[in-house]
Amino acid sequence: MWRPPQRIQFEPKPGRIPTASEAAASRLFSPVRVGALELEQRTWVPAMVPWRASDDGYVTDDVVDWYSRFARGRPGAIVIEATGIRDVPSGPLLRIGHDRFLPGLERLTNAVREASGGHTKLLIQIIDFLSIRRRPERNKFFQQFLRVTDAHREALGASGMSEADVREKLAMFSDERLERILSPREMEALRHGHRERVTDVEFAHIRDLPNMLPDLFASAALRAKIAGFDGVELHYAHAYTMASFLSRTNTREDGYGGSLEGRARLPLEVISAVRETVGADYTLGCRFLAEECIEGGSTVEDACHFGVAFARAGLDFLSTSRGGKFDDAKQPGVGQAAYPYTGPSGYECMPQYISDEQGPFGRNVKATAAIRRAVRDAGFATPVVCTGGVHNFDMAEGMLADGVCDIVGSARQSLADPDWTLKLSRGAGASVRLCEFTNYCEGLDQKHKAVTCQLWDKIDVKSPGVKLTADGKRRLVPPEWTPV
Ligand SMILES: Cc1cc2nc3c(=O)[nH]c(=O)nc-3n(C[C@H](O)[C@H](O)[C@H](O)COP(=O)(O)O)c2cc1C
Ligand code: SF4
Repeated sequence: MWRPPQRIQFEPKPGRIPTASEAAASRLFSPVRVGALELEQRTWVPAMVPWRASDDGYVTDDVVDWYSRFARGRPGAIVIEATGIRDVPSGPLLRIGHDRFLPGLERLTNAVREASGGHTKLLIQIIDFLSIRRRPERNKFFQQFLRVTDAHREALGASGMSEADVREKLAMFSDERLERILSPREMEALRHGHRERVTDVEFAHIRDLPNMLPDLFASAALRAKIAGFDGVELHYAHAYTMASFLSRTNTREDGYGGSLEGRARLPLEVISAVRETVGADYTLGCRFLAEECIEGGSTVEDACHFGVAFARAGLDFLSTSRGGKFDDAKQPGVGQAAYPYTGPSGYECMPQYISDEQGPFGRNVKATAAIRRAVRDAGFATPVVCTGGVHNFDMAEGMLADGVCDIVGSARQSLADPDWTLKLSRGAGASVRLCEFTNYCEGLDQKHKAVTCQLWDKIDVKSPGVKLTADGKRRLVPPEWTPV
Protein backbone atom coordinates (compact mmCIF):
# COMPACT_ATOMS: atom_id res chain seq x y z
CA MET A 1 0.00 0.00 0.00
CA TRP A 2 1.07 3.58 -0.64
CA ARG A 3 2.37 5.57 2.35
CA PRO A 4 3.27 9.25 2.68
CA PRO A 5 6.98 9.80 2.03
CA GLN A 6 7.47 11.48 5.44
CA ARG A 7 7.21 8.04 7.08
CA ILE A 8 6.31 9.47 10.52
CA GLN A 9 5.16 6.76 12.91
CA PHE A 10 2.04 7.29 15.02
CA GLU A 11 0.88 5.26 17.95
CA PRO A 12 -2.76 4.91 18.96
CA LYS A 13 -3.38 5.94 22.56
CA PRO A 14 -6.15 4.83 24.91
CA GLY A 15 -6.67 8.44 26.06
CA ARG A 16 -8.59 9.20 29.22
CA ILE A 17 -10.65 6.22 30.33
CA PRO A 18 -14.11 7.27 31.52
CA THR A 19 -15.82 5.67 34.49
CA ALA A 20 -19.15 4.01 33.77
CA SER A 21 -21.01 7.03 35.11
CA GLU A 22 -18.90 9.47 33.07
CA ALA A 23 -19.65 7.37 30.00
CA ALA A 24 -23.35 7.34 30.80
CA ALA A 25 -23.35 11.15 30.98
CA SER A 26 -21.32 11.57 27.79
CA ARG A 27 -22.45 12.67 24.37
CA LEU A 28 -21.11 9.45 22.82
CA PHE A 29 -23.46 7.32 24.88
CA SER A 30 -26.49 9.56 24.43
CA PRO A 31 -29.28 8.63 22.00
CA VAL A 32 -29.74 10.18 18.59
CA ARG A 33 -32.61 10.16 16.11
CA VAL A 34 -31.81 8.99 12.58
CA GLY A 35 -34.97 9.35 10.54
CA ALA A 36 -37.47 6.87 11.87
CA LEU A 37 -34.90 5.24 14.15
CA GLU A 38 -33.51 6.12 17.49
CA LEU A 39 -29.96 4.90 18.08
CA GLU A 40 -29.30 4.21 21.75
CA GLN A 41 -25.82 5.68 21.41
CA ARG A 42 -23.80 7.59 18.86
CA THR A 43 -21.46 4.73 18.00
CA TRP A 44 -21.54 3.34 14.48
CA VAL A 45 -19.73 0.48 12.74
CA PRO A 46 -19.37 1.54 9.09
CA ALA A 47 -19.50 -0.90 6.21
CA MET A 48 -16.54 -3.30 5.94
CA VAL A 49 -16.39 -6.17 3.46
CA PRO A 50 -15.12 -9.23 5.38
CA TRP A 51 -15.18 -11.65 2.40
CA ARG A 52 -17.45 -14.19 3.99
CA ALA A 53 -20.33 -14.36 1.49
CA SER A 54 -20.71 -17.41 -0.77
CA ASP A 55 -19.27 -17.31 -4.29
CA ASP A 56 -22.70 -16.45 -5.59
CA GLY A 57 -23.38 -13.66 -3.10
CA TYR A 58 -25.49 -15.39 -0.44
CA VAL A 59 -25.33 -14.90 3.30
CA THR A 60 -23.35 -17.78 4.84
CA ASP A 61 -22.97 -19.01 8.43
CA ASP A 62 -19.69 -17.07 8.51
CA VAL A 63 -21.48 -13.84 7.55
CA VAL A 64 -24.02 -14.42 10.31
CA ASP A 65 -21.28 -15.23 12.86
CA TRP A 66 -19.31 -12.13 11.86
CA TYR A 67 -22.07 -9.59 12.28
CA SER A 68 -23.49 -11.33 15.35
CA ARG A 69 -20.09 -10.89 16.96
CA PHE A 70 -20.11 -7.14 16.24
CA ALA A 71 -23.68 -6.99 17.54
CA ARG A 72 -22.64 -8.45 20.90
CA GLY A 73 -20.62 -5.24 21.35
CA ARG A 74 -23.95 -3.35 21.11
CA PRO A 75 -22.91 -0.31 19.07
CA GLY A 76 -25.65 2.19 18.17
CA ALA A 77 -25.67 0.94 14.57
CA ILE A 78 -23.91 -1.52 12.30
CA VAL A 79 -23.85 -1.04 8.54
CA ILE A 80 -23.57 -4.32 6.64
CA GLU A 81 -20.87 -4.37 3.96
CA ALA A 82 -21.30 -3.03 0.41
CA THR A 83 -23.96 -5.33 -1.09
CA GLY A 84 -24.49 -5.52 -4.86
CA ILE A 85 -27.85 -4.39 -6.28
CA ARG A 86 -27.59 -6.16 -9.63
CA ASP A 87 -28.45 -9.75 -10.36
CA VAL A 88 -25.08 -10.50 -11.93
CA PRO A 89 -22.23 -12.73 -10.76
CA SER A 90 -19.80 -10.67 -8.68
CA GLY A 91 -17.75 -13.24 -6.78
CA PRO A 92 -18.03 -13.55 -3.00
CA LEU A 93 -19.62 -10.13 -2.49
CA LEU A 94 -22.95 -10.03 -0.72
CA ARG A 95 -25.86 -9.45 -3.09
CA ILE A 96 -29.40 -8.11 -2.85
CA GLY A 97 -30.31 -7.94 -6.55
CA HIS A 98 -33.02 -10.66 -6.48
CA ASP A 99 -35.66 -12.00 -4.09
CA ARG A 100 -33.78 -15.29 -3.80
CA PHE A 101 -31.29 -13.47 -1.53
CA LEU A 102 -34.06 -12.58 0.93
CA PRO A 103 -34.07 -15.67 3.17
CA GLY A 104 -30.33 -15.32 3.90
CA LEU A 105 -30.61 -11.59 4.55
CA GLU A 106 -33.60 -12.19 6.84
CA ARG A 107 -31.59 -14.74 8.77
CA LEU A 108 -28.86 -12.12 9.16
CA THR A 109 -31.15 -9.39 10.49
CA ASN A 110 -32.75 -11.81 12.96
CA ALA A 111 -29.37 -13.04 14.18
CA VAL A 112 -28.02 -9.51 14.70
CA ARG A 113 -31.16 -8.37 16.52
CA GLU A 114 -30.92 -11.35 18.85
CA ALA A 115 -27.16 -10.99 19.41
CA SER A 116 -27.45 -7.33 20.40
CA GLY A 117 -30.52 -7.95 22.54
CA GLY A 118 -32.31 -5.49 20.27
CA HIS A 119 -29.92 -2.67 21.23
CA THR A 120 -28.21 -2.22 17.86
CA LYS A 121 -29.85 -0.94 14.69
CA LEU A 122 -28.85 -2.72 11.50
CA LEU A 123 -28.46 -0.98 8.16
CA ILE A 124 -27.16 -2.29 4.85
CA GLN A 125 -24.97 -0.47 2.36
CA ILE A 126 -26.15 -0.99 -1.22
CA ILE A 127 -23.77 -0.55 -4.11
CA ASP A 128 -23.48 -0.47 -7.86
CA PHE A 129 -20.11 -0.85 -9.55
CA LEU A 130 -18.93 -1.00 -13.13
CA SER A 131 -16.81 -3.75 -14.59
CA ILE A 132 -13.07 -3.90 -14.23
CA ARG A 133 -10.83 -6.47 -15.90
CA ARG A 134 -7.66 -7.98 -14.55
CA ARG A 135 -4.35 -6.75 -15.92
CA PRO A 136 -3.79 -8.91 -19.00
CA GLU A 137 -0.67 -10.71 -20.08
CA ARG A 138 0.99 -8.50 -22.65
CA ASN A 139 0.72 -10.98 -25.52
CA LYS A 140 -2.88 -11.76 -24.74
CA PHE A 141 -3.69 -8.06 -24.73
CA PHE A 142 -2.33 -7.59 -28.24
CA GLN A 143 -3.65 -10.89 -29.57
CA GLN A 144 -7.16 -10.77 -28.10
CA PHE A 145 -8.18 -7.67 -26.15
CA LEU A 146 -7.04 -4.68 -28.18
CA ARG A 147 -9.64 -3.56 -30.69
CA VAL A 148 -7.55 -2.76 -33.77
CA THR A 149 -8.68 0.43 -35.50
CA ASP A 150 -7.62 2.58 -38.42
CA ALA A 151 -6.11 5.00 -35.89
CA HIS A 152 -3.51 2.31 -35.11
CA ARG A 153 -2.81 1.71 -38.80
CA GLU A 154 -2.47 5.42 -39.34
CA ALA A 155 -0.04 5.78 -36.43
CA LEU A 156 1.97 2.92 -37.89
CA GLY A 157 1.92 4.59 -41.30
CA ALA A 158 0.44 1.42 -42.82
CA SER A 159 -3.13 2.04 -43.89
CA GLY A 160 -3.68 -1.33 -45.58
CA MET A 161 -2.05 -3.50 -42.92
CA SER A 162 -3.97 -6.63 -41.87
CA GLU A 163 -5.32 -6.84 -38.34
CA ALA A 164 -3.02 -9.76 -37.54
CA ASP A 165 0.03 -7.79 -38.67
CA VAL A 166 -0.98 -4.73 -36.63
CA ARG A 167 -1.30 -6.92 -33.54
CA GLU A 168 2.04 -8.58 -34.13
CA LYS A 169 3.83 -5.30 -34.73
CA LEU A 170 2.39 -3.53 -31.69
CA ALA A 171 3.27 -6.46 -29.44
CA MET A 172 6.94 -5.91 -30.27
CA PHE A 173 7.03 -2.21 -29.36
CA SER A 174 8.31 -0.74 -26.11
CA ASP A 175 5.83 1.03 -23.81
CA GLU A 176 7.42 4.34 -24.75
CA ARG A 177 6.70 3.77 -28.39
CA LEU A 178 3.24 2.39 -27.69
CA GLU A 179 2.36 5.59 -25.85
CA ARG A 180 2.59 7.39 -29.18
CA ILE A 181 0.27 4.90 -30.89
CA LEU A 182 -2.29 3.69 -28.36
CA SER A 183 -4.84 5.97 -26.70
CA PRO A 184 -4.49 6.67 -22.95
CA ARG A 185 -7.40 4.28 -22.28
CA GLU A 186 -5.73 1.55 -24.34
CA MET A 187 -2.49 2.08 -22.44
CA GLU A 188 -4.43 1.87 -19.19
CA ALA A 189 -6.06 -1.38 -20.35
CA LEU A 190 -2.60 -2.79 -21.08
CA ARG A 191 -0.97 -1.63 -17.87
CA HIS A 192 -3.83 -1.95 -15.36
CA GLY A 193 -6.65 -3.87 -17.08
CA HIS A 194 -9.67 -2.34 -18.79
CA ARG A 195 -11.94 -0.36 -16.48
CA GLU A 196 -15.36 1.01 -17.41
CA ARG A 197 -16.17 4.61 -16.57
CA VAL A 198 -19.48 6.45 -16.28
CA THR A 199 -18.25 8.68 -19.08
CA ASP A 200 -18.06 5.79 -21.61
CA VAL A 201 -21.36 6.94 -23.10
CA GLU A 202 -20.56 5.38 -26.47
CA PHE A 203 -21.73 2.11 -24.86
CA ALA A 204 -25.50 1.77 -24.42
CA HIS A 205 -25.27 0.11 -20.99
CA ILE A 206 -23.23 3.07 -19.65
CA ARG A 207 -25.31 5.69 -21.42
CA ASP A 208 -28.43 4.10 -19.89
CA LEU A 209 -27.20 4.09 -16.30
CA PRO A 210 -29.48 7.02 -15.39
CA ASN A 211 -32.47 5.01 -16.68
CA MET A 212 -31.54 1.77 -14.95
CA LEU A 213 -30.07 2.67 -11.59
CA PRO A 214 -33.00 4.37 -9.82
CA ASP A 215 -35.13 1.20 -10.18
CA LEU A 216 -32.26 -1.13 -9.29
CA PHE A 217 -31.49 0.81 -6.10
CA ALA A 218 -35.18 1.11 -5.26
CA SER A 219 -35.82 -2.65 -5.64
CA ALA A 220 -32.74 -3.47 -3.58
CA ALA A 221 -33.79 -1.05 -0.84
CA LEU A 222 -37.26 -2.56 -0.75
CA ARG A 223 -35.71 -6.01 -0.32
CA ALA A 224 -33.63 -4.64 2.54
CA LYS A 225 -36.79 -3.37 4.20
CA ILE A 226 -38.57 -6.71 3.67
CA ALA A 227 -35.55 -8.60 5.04
CA GLY A 228 -35.83 -6.62 8.29
CA PHE A 229 -33.00 -4.11 8.00
CA ASP A 230 -33.67 -0.94 9.98
CA GLY A 231 -32.38 1.25 7.19
CA VAL A 232 -30.39 1.54 3.97
CA GLU A 233 -27.17 3.36 3.19
CA LEU A 234 -26.70 4.24 -0.48
CA HIS A 235 -23.03 3.77 -1.40
CA TYR A 236 -22.08 7.06 -3.06
CA ALA A 237 -18.42 6.87 -1.96
CA HIS A 238 -15.05 5.63 -3.18
CA ALA A 239 -14.47 4.17 -6.65
CA TYR A 240 -17.94 3.01 -7.56
CA THR A 241 -20.69 4.10 -9.94
CA MET A 242 -22.51 6.71 -7.89
CA ALA A 243 -19.32 8.34 -6.61
CA SER A 244 -18.16 8.48 -10.21
CA PHE A 245 -21.27 10.43 -11.14
CA LEU A 246 -20.59 12.89 -8.31
CA SER A 247 -16.94 13.25 -9.27
CA ARG A 248 -15.44 16.32 -10.92
CA THR A 249 -14.02 13.83 -13.41
CA ASN A 250 -17.56 13.15 -14.65
CA THR A 251 -17.70 15.06 -17.92
CA ARG A 252 -20.90 13.50 -19.29
CA GLU A 253 -22.75 15.94 -21.52
CA ASP A 254 -26.23 14.43 -21.27
CA GLY A 255 -27.28 16.40 -18.19
CA TYR A 256 -25.74 13.83 -15.80
CA GLY A 257 -22.27 15.32 -15.52
CA GLY A 258 -20.27 18.53 -15.74
CA SER A 259 -21.81 21.06 -13.35
CA LEU A 260 -22.44 20.32 -9.68
CA GLU A 261 -26.15 20.05 -10.49
CA GLY A 262 -25.49 17.67 -13.38
CA ARG A 263 -23.23 15.43 -11.28
CA ALA A 264 -25.76 15.32 -8.43
CA ARG A 265 -28.71 14.64 -10.74
CA LEU A 266 -28.58 10.82 -10.85
CA PRO A 267 -27.74 10.47 -7.12
CA LEU A 268 -30.81 12.65 -6.40
CA GLU A 269 -32.98 10.67 -8.82
CA VAL A 270 -31.89 7.48 -7.06
CA ILE A 271 -32.80 8.97 -3.67
CA SER A 272 -36.19 9.99 -4.95
CA ALA A 273 -36.92 6.55 -6.48
CA VAL A 274 -35.79 4.74 -3.34
CA ARG A 275 -37.79 7.03 -1.07
CA GLU A 276 -40.90 6.56 -3.12
CA THR A 277 -40.48 2.79 -2.87
CA VAL A 278 -39.56 2.37 0.81
CA GLY A 279 -41.81 5.13 2.15
CA ALA A 280 -41.21 8.22 4.25
CA ASP A 281 -40.92 6.28 7.50
CA TYR A 282 -37.95 4.12 6.50
CA THR A 283 -34.43 5.26 7.36
CA LEU A 284 -32.42 6.12 4.27
CA GLY A 285 -29.02 7.77 4.08
CA CYS A 286 -25.89 7.74 1.99
CA ARG A 287 -22.15 7.50 2.33
CA PHE A 288 -20.25 9.95 0.17
CA LEU A 289 -16.82 11.48 -0.10
CA ALA A 290 -15.93 14.58 1.87
CA GLU A 291 -12.99 14.88 -0.54
CA GLU A 292 -11.95 12.70 -3.46
CA CYS A 293 -8.26 13.29 -2.79
CA ILE A 294 -7.21 12.90 -6.44
CA GLU A 295 -5.87 15.40 -8.90
CA GLY A 296 -8.81 17.19 -10.49
CA GLY A 297 -11.26 15.45 -8.15
CA SER A 298 -14.15 16.82 -6.12
CA THR A 299 -13.31 19.08 -3.21
CA VAL A 300 -14.91 19.71 0.15
CA GLU A 301 -16.81 22.64 -1.40
CA ASP A 302 -18.40 20.20 -3.83
CA ALA A 303 -19.18 17.84 -0.95
CA CYS A 304 -20.85 20.69 0.99
CA HIS A 305 -23.08 21.31 -2.02
CA PHE A 306 -23.93 17.59 -2.29
CA GLY A 307 -24.52 17.25 1.46
CA VAL A 308 -27.04 20.10 1.40
CA ALA A 309 -28.72 18.69 -1.73
CA PHE A 310 -29.02 15.22 -0.13
CA ALA A 311 -30.40 16.68 3.08
CA ARG A 312 -32.92 18.71 1.08
CA ALA A 313 -33.89 15.54 -0.78
CA GLY A 314 -34.87 14.03 2.56
CA LEU A 315 -32.00 11.70 3.45
CA ASP A 316 -32.05 10.74 7.12
CA PHE A 317 -28.28 10.66 7.58
CA LEU A 318 -25.07 11.57 5.79
CA SER A 319 -21.98 9.47 6.37
CA THR A 320 -18.63 10.66 5.07
CA SER A 321 -15.52 8.90 3.85
CA ARG A 322 -12.62 10.16 1.77
CA GLY A 323 -10.53 9.03 -1.21
CA GLY A 324 -10.44 5.38 -2.25
CA LYS A 325 -10.26 5.95 -6.02
CA PHE A 326 -9.01 3.94 -8.99
CA ASP A 327 -7.50 7.06 -10.55
CA ASP A 328 -4.26 6.83 -8.54
CA ALA A 329 -4.28 3.11 -7.74
CA LYS A 330 -1.07 1.10 -7.98
CA GLN A 331 -0.44 -0.96 -11.08
CA PRO A 332 -1.69 -4.49 -10.31
CA GLY A 333 0.32 -7.62 -11.05
CA VAL A 334 -0.50 -9.54 -14.24
CA GLY A 335 -3.73 -11.46 -13.65
CA GLN A 336 -4.77 -9.12 -10.78
CA ALA A 337 -7.34 -6.34 -10.86
CA ALA A 338 -6.52 -2.76 -9.86
CA TYR A 339 -7.61 -1.95 -6.34
CA PRO A 340 -8.78 1.53 -5.38
CA TYR A 341 -7.09 1.61 -1.95
CA THR A 342 -3.48 1.29 -3.10
CA GLY A 343 -2.61 4.88 -4.01
CA PRO A 344 -2.54 8.20 -2.13
CA SER A 345 -6.36 8.49 -2.24
CA GLY A 346 -6.55 4.96 -0.84
CA TYR A 347 -4.31 6.09 1.99
CA GLU A 348 -6.74 8.90 2.76
CA CYS A 349 -9.53 6.35 2.98
CA MET A 350 -7.77 3.94 5.33
CA PRO A 351 -4.69 5.72 6.65
CA GLN A 352 -1.99 3.61 8.20
CA TYR A 353 0.17 4.34 11.27
CA ILE A 354 3.12 5.33 9.04
CA SER A 355 1.99 8.76 7.96
CA ASP A 356 2.74 12.43 7.35
CA GLU A 357 2.60 15.34 9.83
CA GLN A 358 -1.18 15.13 9.92
CA GLY A 359 -1.16 11.50 11.05
CA PRO A 360 -3.74 8.79 10.49
CA PHE A 361 -6.25 9.82 13.16
CA GLY A 362 -9.15 12.07 12.17
CA ARG A 363 -8.09 12.94 8.63
CA ASN A 364 -11.74 13.45 7.67
CA VAL A 365 -12.65 15.64 10.65
CA LYS A 366 -12.09 19.05 9.09
CA ALA A 367 -13.92 18.31 5.85
CA THR A 368 -16.82 16.59 7.61
CA ALA A 369 -17.19 19.54 10.00
CA ALA A 370 -17.45 21.84 6.96
CA ILE A 371 -20.14 19.64 5.39
CA ARG A 372 -22.15 19.50 8.62
CA ARG A 373 -21.88 23.28 8.99
CA ALA A 374 -23.15 23.79 5.42
CA VAL A 375 -26.05 21.41 6.06
CA ARG A 376 -26.97 23.21 9.31
CA ASP A 377 -26.61 26.64 7.67
CA ALA A 378 -29.06 25.50 5.00
CA GLY A 379 -31.55 24.73 7.79
CA PHE A 380 -31.33 20.93 7.96
CA ALA A 381 -30.80 18.90 11.13
CA THR A 382 -29.71 15.74 9.24
CA PRO A 383 -27.31 13.75 11.42
CA VAL A 384 -23.78 13.36 10.07
CA VAL A 385 -21.53 10.34 10.66
CA CYS A 386 -17.76 10.90 10.61
CA THR A 387 -15.30 7.99 10.36
CA GLY A 388 -11.53 7.71 10.15
CA GLY A 389 -8.93 6.76 12.73
CA VAL A 390 -11.23 6.99 15.75
CA HIS A 391 -9.94 4.70 18.48
CA ASN A 392 -10.57 6.22 21.89
CA PHE A 393 -13.24 7.91 23.98
CA ASP A 394 -11.59 11.36 24.07
CA MET A 395 -11.39 11.55 20.32
CA ALA A 396 -14.98 10.42 19.76
CA GLU A 397 -16.37 12.68 22.47
CA GLY A 398 -14.29 15.61 21.19
CA MET A 399 -15.70 15.21 17.66
CA LEU A 400 -19.24 15.37 19.03
CA ALA A 401 -18.45 18.30 21.33
CA ASP A 402 -16.79 20.23 18.49
CA GLY A 403 -19.78 19.80 16.18
CA VAL A 404 -17.81 17.71 13.66
CA CYS A 405 -20.56 15.11 13.56
CA ASP A 406 -23.56 13.68 15.39
CA ILE A 407 -22.46 10.04 15.26
CA VAL A 408 -18.94 8.61 15.37
CA GLY A 409 -17.96 5.78 13.01
CA SER A 410 -15.11 3.41 13.79
CA ALA A 411 -14.30 0.64 11.33
CA ARG A 412 -10.89 -0.80 12.13
CA GLN A 413 -11.11 -0.06 15.87
CA SER A 414 -14.37 -2.06 15.91
CA LEU A 415 -12.66 -4.82 13.96
CA ALA A 416 -9.77 -4.87 16.46
CA ASP A 417 -12.22 -4.97 19.35
CA PRO A 418 -15.96 -5.19 18.64
CA ASP A 419 -16.61 -4.67 22.36
CA TRP A 420 -14.62 -1.46 22.59
CA THR A 421 -17.56 0.89 23.11
CA LEU A 422 -19.33 -1.60 25.38
CA LYS A 423 -16.17 -1.74 27.48
CA LEU A 424 -16.04 2.07 27.61
CA SER A 425 -19.69 2.25 28.64
CA ARG A 426 -19.02 -0.15 31.51
CA GLY A 427 -15.93 1.65 32.78
CA ALA A 428 -13.71 -1.14 31.42
CA GLY A 429 -11.96 1.03 28.83
CA ALA A 430 -8.53 -0.11 30.08
CA SER A 431 -9.18 -3.53 28.52
CA VAL A 432 -9.90 -2.19 25.01
CA ARG A 433 -7.73 -3.84 22.34
CA LEU A 434 -6.49 -0.75 20.52
CA CYS A 435 -6.23 -0.91 16.75
CA GLU A 436 -2.62 -0.35 15.67
CA PHE A 437 -3.60 0.89 12.21
CA THR A 438 -1.18 -1.52 10.52
CA ASN A 439 -3.67 -2.36 7.76
CA TYR A 440 -3.01 -6.09 8.01
CA CYS A 441 -6.81 -6.42 7.69
CA GLU A 442 -6.82 -4.24 4.61
CA GLY A 443 -4.09 -6.38 3.03
CA LEU A 444 -6.37 -9.41 3.41
CA ASP A 445 -9.27 -7.45 1.96
CA GLN A 446 -7.15 -6.57 -1.04
CA LYS A 447 -6.41 -10.25 -1.68
CA HIS A 448 -10.11 -11.08 -1.21
CA LYS A 449 -9.18 -13.26 1.77
CA ALA A 450 -11.31 -13.56 4.91
CA VAL A 451 -10.65 -10.33 6.80
CA THR A 452 -9.37 -10.79 10.35
CA CYS A 453 -7.28 -8.69 12.76
CA GLN A 454 -3.72 -9.49 13.72
CA LEU A 455 -4.53 -8.64 17.35
CA TRP A 456 -6.88 -11.59 17.77
CA ASP A 457 -6.74 -14.01 14.87
CA LYS A 458 -4.13 -16.30 16.43
CA ILE A 459 -5.70 -16.39 19.91
CA ASP A 460 -6.87 -19.85 21.05
CA VAL A 461 -6.84 -21.24 17.53
CA LYS A 462 -6.57 -24.76 18.93
CA SER A 463 -9.54 -24.47 21.28
CA PRO A 464 -12.52 -26.64 20.40
CA GLY A 465 -15.40 -24.81 18.73
CA VAL A 466 -13.25 -21.97 17.36
CA LYS A 467 -14.03 -21.58 13.65
CA LEU A 468 -10.95 -21.06 11.48
CA THR A 469 -10.12 -19.79 7.99
CA ALA A 470 -9.84 -22.39 5.21
CA ASP A 471 -6.08 -22.76 5.79
CA GLY A 472 -6.73 -23.51 9.48
CA LYS A 473 -4.43 -20.70 10.64
CA ARG A 474 -6.68 -17.84 11.72
CA ARG A 475 -9.82 -17.64 13.80
CA LEU A 476 -12.77 -16.12 11.96
CA VAL A 477 -14.30 -14.06 14.76
CA PRO A 478 -12.75 -12.24 17.71
CA PRO A 479 -12.69 -13.99 21.09
CA GLU A 480 -15.58 -13.21 23.42
CA TRP A 481 -15.28 -10.63 26.16
CA THR A 482 -16.61 -11.57 29.56
CA PRO A 483 -17.25 -8.48 31.67
CA VAL A 484 -15.88 -8.88 35.23
C1 LIG B 1 -11.56 -4.53 5.45
C2 LIG B 1 -12.27 -3.27 5.13
C3 LIG B 1 -13.37 -3.29 4.27
C4 LIG B 1 -14.06 -2.10 3.98
N1 LIG B 1 -15.20 -2.15 3.22
C5 LIG B 1 -15.95 -1.03 3.04
C6 LIG B 1 -17.23 -1.06 2.40
O1 LIG B 1 -17.75 -2.12 2.04
N2 LIG B 1 -17.89 0.11 2.23
C7 LIG B 1 -17.40 1.30 2.68
O2 LIG B 1 -18.04 2.34 2.50
N3 LIG B 1 -16.20 1.37 3.30
C8 LIG B 1 -15.49 0.24 3.52
N4 LIG B 1 -14.31 0.30 4.23
C9 LIG B 1 -13.86 1.62 4.76
C10 LIG B 1 -14.30 1.79 6.21
O3 LIG B 1 -15.71 1.80 6.33
C11 LIG B 1 -13.73 3.08 6.83
O4 LIG B 1 -14.23 4.18 6.12
C12 LIG B 1 -12.21 3.14 6.79
O5 LIG B 1 -11.68 1.92 7.26
C13 LIG B 1 -11.67 4.28 7.66
O6 LIG B 1 -12.21 4.21 8.96
P1 LIG B 1 -11.38 3.59 10.23
O7 LIG B 1 -10.16 4.43 10.38
O8 LIG B 1 -12.35 3.72 11.38
O9 LIG B 1 -11.05 2.19 9.90
C14 LIG B 1 -13.61 -0.87 4.53
C15 LIG B 1 -12.51 -0.87 5.39
C16 LIG B 1 -11.85 -2.04 5.69
C17 LIG B 1 -10.68 -1.99 6.64
S1 SF4 C 1 -5.38 -5.70 11.54
FE1 SF4 C 1 -6.33 -5.08 13.44
S2 SF4 C 1 -4.84 -3.71 14.37
FE2 SF4 C 1 -4.28 -3.85 12.22
S3 SF4 C 1 -5.37 -2.15 11.24
FE3 SF4 C 1 -6.69 -3.94 11.05
S4 SF4 C 1 -8.04 -3.81 12.82
FE4 SF4 C 1 -6.31 -2.47 13.25
